[in-house]
Amino acid sequence: MKETGKAIEERSSTRGYTQQKLAKETLDTLIRAGLQAPTAANKQEIHITAADGSEPILQEIEAEKNRLREISDPASNFYYDAPTVLILSGDSDFVWSDVDAGIAVENIALAAEGLGLGSLIIGCIRDAMLGEKKEYFAEALKFPKGYEFKIAIALGYKAVSKEPHEIDLAKNVTCLSQDS
Ligand SMILES: Cc1cc2nc3c(=O)[nH]c(=O)nc-3n(C[C@H](O)[C@H](O)[C@H](O)COP(=O)(O)O)c2cc1C
Repeated sequence: MKETGKAIEERSSTRGYTQQKLAKETLDTLIRAGLQAPTAANKQEIHITAADGSEPILQEIEAEKNRLREISDPASNFYYDAPTVLILSGDSDFVWSDVDAGIAVENIALAAEGLGLGSLIIGCIRDAMLGEKKEYFAEALKFPKGYEFKIAIALGYKAVSKEPHEIDLAKNVTCLSQDS
């Protein structure tokens, strides 16, 4: 396992995977990393649905996303044929669920990088997941009652590599203290 600072610095989005499946212990480690994330008021409400990349429901979500976006011939599907996709759902009535899901998904992404795996956080299916087929998808993905889609993450072994993005301290940081 990579040291945390290194995993943070070296993580980048992976948009191409080998078809090697994740071992059950590896998947367990990634799921546990998501559930180990802090949650507001320690509510621990984030639910994770684990889907094999070959699950037909993923193709249905892809089709609905493309229908809404009026895309007829996408270059790739939303999860880039990763062998595993985790779908995070949260309580639709809890004000912090979006934040909690964001923290959980980044925990998973960093754990994946730590284990030498690639990951891609996926938001592009949001409109499809929350649109007219919301209840159908929620049932198919076995979300708990009253839960809705928050975010997803593709996971697998990297078939492509990408440099981490550059950061811009001058643009994104303001230090109020004089001596920092
Ligand atoms: C909330 C969120 C949603 C995202 N949704 C998608 C997506 O649907 N498809 C995709 O290819 N990348 C998606 N990304 C990945 C971003 O495009 C990526 O993190 C960004 O371009 C920076 O690149 P890096 O992750 O390689 O540093 C998403 C990232 C976040 C944080």
